[in-house]
Amino acid sequence: MKVLGIMGSPRIKGNTDLLLDEALKGAKSQQAEVEKIVVDKLKITPCREYYGCLKDGNCVIRDDMDDVYPKLLEADGIIVASPIFFYGLTAQLKALIDRCQALWVRRYVLKNLPESTRKGVFIGVGATRGKQLFDGSRLTVKYFFQAFGVEYVDELLIRGVDKRGEIKEHPTALLDAFKLGSRLAQKIG
Ligand SMILES: Cc1cc2nc3c(=O)[nH]c(=O)nc-3n(C[C@H](O)[C@H](O)[C@H](O)COP(=O)(O)O)c2cc1C
Repeated sequence: MKVLGIMGSPRIKGNTDLLLDEALKGAKSQQAEVEKIVVDKLKITPCREYYGCLKDGNCVIRDDMDDVYPKLLEADGIIVASPIFFYGLTAQLKALIDRCQALWVRRYVLKNLPESTRKGVFIGVGATRGKQLFDGSRLTVKYFFQAFGVEYVDELLIRGVDKRGEIKEHPTALLDAFKLGSRLAQKIG
């Protein structure tokens, strides 16, 4: 049972990073094998719409996505974690997501992506408290998952947290993240 965490913030040991670490600890507590990708450390070119993927489902751009695709396809559970930047995900994470058009092609055009029961969850954190703060990001993550056959099953959305590491002062967030990771591992176990 493998759980992959995708850390979308450029801020190491920031709020997203700390939340994701707790969620991965929760998954590990249920005997999941966990791995974390720090997207900002990878070289990921944004999608250029060459559409080379239409031929065989493989992107024609050679960069660090070469290592990310197999991880996305092998994980039984995926945790996407991101701060909210202008009501969306970070640009780094969005570049990774857009490059998964190649997987969308496999599933919906070439129809050669095996069906699966894999599951995914979203952790979002933002500074303000608007009702719609996570609406755009939730949709993006949901359809990112759907592109390669992962069901969006759970989420943890934290409002009102801004400074680096401020999440540690939040009364419930880190424990909630641990529980989210542990629930995910139970669902895929
Ligand atoms: C470029 C940028 C855009 C942001 N846009 C929003 C926003 O639209 N809404 C919001 O509530 N917070 C916004 N924030 C605040 C971050 O979401 C917040 O500081 C978050 O806790 C950062 O998480 P991190 O420590 O994991 O990077 C923005 C921050 C930056 C740097």
